[in-house]
Amino acid sequence: MEYLNPGRAPYTARERELIGAAHTRQARAHFDRHPAYRPTPVHTLPGLAGTRAVHVKDESGRMGLGSFKALGGAYAVHLLAQRHGGGTPVLCASAGNHGISVAYGAREAGVPCAVYLGHDVPEAFARRLRVLGAEVRRDGDDYEAAMAAAQRAAHEHGWRLVADSSWEGYTEVPLDVMRGYTVLFDELAGPWPGTGHVPPGAGAPWEAPTHVFVQAGVGGLAAAAAGYIRDRWGEQPKIIVVEPEGAPCLIESARAGRPLRVPGSHTDLGRLDCREPSLIAHRLLTRLADLYMTITDDDAEAAVRLLAGHGVALSACGAAGAAGLVALSPSGRAALGLDSTSRVLVVGTEGPVEPK
Ligand SMILES: Cc1ncc(COP(=O)(O)O)c(C=O)c1O
Repeated sequence: MEYLNPGRAPYTARERELIGAAHTRQARAHFDRHPAYRPTPVHTLPGLAGTRAVHVKDESGRMGLGSFKALGGAYAVHLLAQRHGGGTPVLCASAGNHGISVAYGAREAGVPCAVYLGHDVPEAFARRLRVLGAEVRRDGDDYEAAMAAAQRAAHEHGWRLVADSSWEGYTEVPLDVMRGYTVLFDELAGPWPGTGHVPPGAGAPWEAPTHVFVQAGVGGLAAAAAGYIRDRWGEQPKIIVVEPEGAPCLIESARAGRPLRVPGSHTDLGRLDCREPSLIAHRLLTRLADLYMTITDDDAEAAVRLLAGHGVALSACGAAGAAGLVALSPSGRAALGLDSTSRVLVVGTEGPVEPK
């Protein structure tokens, strides 16, 4: 399913107030002081999928936590402690990676942390959370049920909820989370240590890409990407939001013109398995994204194999943006002007979950 966004509109001061380069500078200043922080590498794959080059921003090694989410929850916990002082415990619901980030931030801030996981989240995540000192609470069959449990507990015990999603009346913390994510795009600002070599003719990754494919669960990453990209690179790069066929909450919400909870169906793309969009993400993307699309689990697995063939190891969820590029229909490519001159950015959001 592909949906060309009829609501696409220019980036204005209204969006900049939510997500823009100024927020990124603050987040970057925090991380630049952090001992575990290093920019992650980019792998440049010339000629892939009928393009001039695909640049894969590889988040698998992010701060030793396995995904880009390390930049969001931990940063939000740091800001909470700064604003309100330490002491109050934090909690969150997670499909896995967000909880790891919040637990990491809580350990640094010296506050207790509880993470609510649906029964569908792999035990590997629960183990990693406990290693970080978080209490794992299994509650509910899916992410939405775990989120409801976390909200109830925050209310009952007065703990601070650190959610990566947002809704009416709850936007401050998720905005901090999203502003943290923008750091990964900021790292494309200049030559950086990492894989370094850019093959001749491929174009340097820090030049503006022509197309950016970003996978979405609740849409926090995609909206962070869109805000930062529009502020930094302007209106030209096409932004494509990629969701699993089984959890198409952003595409359906964009179609409906309001945030919807979708019934969905099973998907193996665990961390993208969200049935309801983040309100802020929905609002930003309906103005800033060019196209929404869904992929199948098989598309994602094929992208994992394709990238592995080029030495880039990602999970299916991590390869979902690249899967969108490969799966895009000829009419979608034509509508976006995607061809052999295009320089595409995708985010490899996560390494293999259970490395073999
Ligand atoms: C590895 C990975 N990729 C992508 C996403 C999607 O991010 P968002 O829910 O902000 O859309 C997640 C969310 O947990 C994730 O863990």
